[in-house]
Amino acid sequence: MPVRPALLVGPALLVGEDGLIPKERYVSPEFLDLEMERVWSRVWQVAGREEELPEAGDYLEYRIGDQSILVVRTGTGALRAFHNTCLHRGTRLAEGCGHFIDGAIQCPYHAWRYALDGRLVEVVDRHEFSDLPDGLALADVRVDTWGGFVFVNLDAEAEPLLDFLDPLPTLLAPYHLEQLRFRAYLTTVLPANWKVVVDAFNEGYHVQGTHPQILPWTDDVSIEYEQFATHAHYGRLPSARRVLRPSPRLGIPDDEVDEGAILAGLVEGLGGAFLKEERAAVEELRAAGLPRGELLGAYQQRRLELLAARGFDVSGIDAEQTTSADDVYCFPNLVGPIYPGSAILFRVRPDGLNPDRTIKDTWVLEWPRPDRDWVMPERRWFPDWEARDWGLITNQDYANMAGVQAGMKSRGCVGLRCNPRQEGNVLHMHAVIDRYLTA
Ligand code: FES
Ligand SMILES: [Fe+2]
Repeated sequence: MPVRPALLVGPALLVGEDGLIPKERYVSPEFLDLEMERVWSRVWQVAGREEELPEAGDYLEYRIGDQSILVVRTGTGALRAFHNTCLHRGTRLAEGCGHFIDGAIQCPYHAWRYALDGRLVEVVDRHEFSDLPDGLALADVRVDTWGGFVFVNLDAEAEPLLDFLDPLPTLLAPYHLEQLRFRAYLTTVLPANWKVVVDAFNEGYHVQGTHPQILPWTDDVSIEYEQFATHAHYGRLPSARRVLRPSPRLGIPDDEVDEGAILAGLVEGLGGAFLKEERAAVEELRAAGLPRGELLGAYQQRRLELLAARGFDVSGIDAEQTTSADDVYCFPNLVGPIYPGSAILFRVRPDGLNPDRTIKDTWVLEWPRPDRDWVMPERRWFPDWEARDWGLITNQDYANMAGVQAGMKSRGCVGLRCNPRQEGNVLHMHAVIDRYLTA
């Protein structure tokens, strides 16, 4: 591979005082190199979930750019992470996910063996290696967990995970994310920069342009956005809960609003976030003919009861939260809505060192049913996103992506101009990137 000339971090690449985002940040291979060097190599990022590694010897591989990291459950129950490279001649030790048998990581090439804690324990014909020092071990990568997520960080000097995540652990504590389990795990490749993919799920401004069919049950205008030191969220803010009413863009008078239809639209439209019995409850309550204004409250109470019946501790959840998500952006690679008892999270990262391609995992997590043993669902891989129907809303989001990436390469495109309020999270992500680039 040709070595790309290093880019200098100068004003031409940083977001300007006028808010114009240089398009090179999305389309330039050199800018992705810079991000790899100064951002992805220094941040905590989600490598997987703890439930993927229940037993000693279980492993998963996390790839970011041209780097590969192995996360391993050791014999003590602790997690360790290593650069995925053999100390002999550099071979990748394992791919994907699985289980190391006999408590050893064995290189597929010349069969050097490592203990689960990374110590080199067997070298074939060792007596012929006169200079091999004792005490060799795989190169460590920092690993830590929060909320059931396994995070890794390539920077040995990075701040502790909880400091990096602040204030998300406090904000999301009532959701008990550590107790969620995978319901589905789908991966695809999208034809756009990783930030194009994050951006698509980090603002509601595009709803009227891309998803007009959800305006009858989505008040897109009242969504509020909040940026933290590093992360961001939107939707269910204490100051402005997302309320069940049509978009004011439609101009429907209040007394013509069909509350039942809005609730049904919400619960169907966000089907992945609601269980079958929670969807059924909508129809049951609609049929009960409640007085105007009482349907939503009745449904929220019903949903709280159903959550409690599943063993979810609802003490930190108020009724309104049962019908509105916390849409969270955990910089840099996790974004999506979190509901009581479920979450639909997108893990986003560059595909190798290609600025025009992104690997996107869709993780549907839910509170495990108390009456069934949970089993890890099959991880499904769709190299061509168009080969699957992702549902209307997501299909619409994905359909934008190639056009955004290609359009930014136009000689007529000088940069991106974001709405300061409704795309405040997008602007904030760039500010955080700049913080890492210039630190
Ligand atoms: S490269 Fe791993 S044992 Fe040779
Ligand atoms: Fe969208």
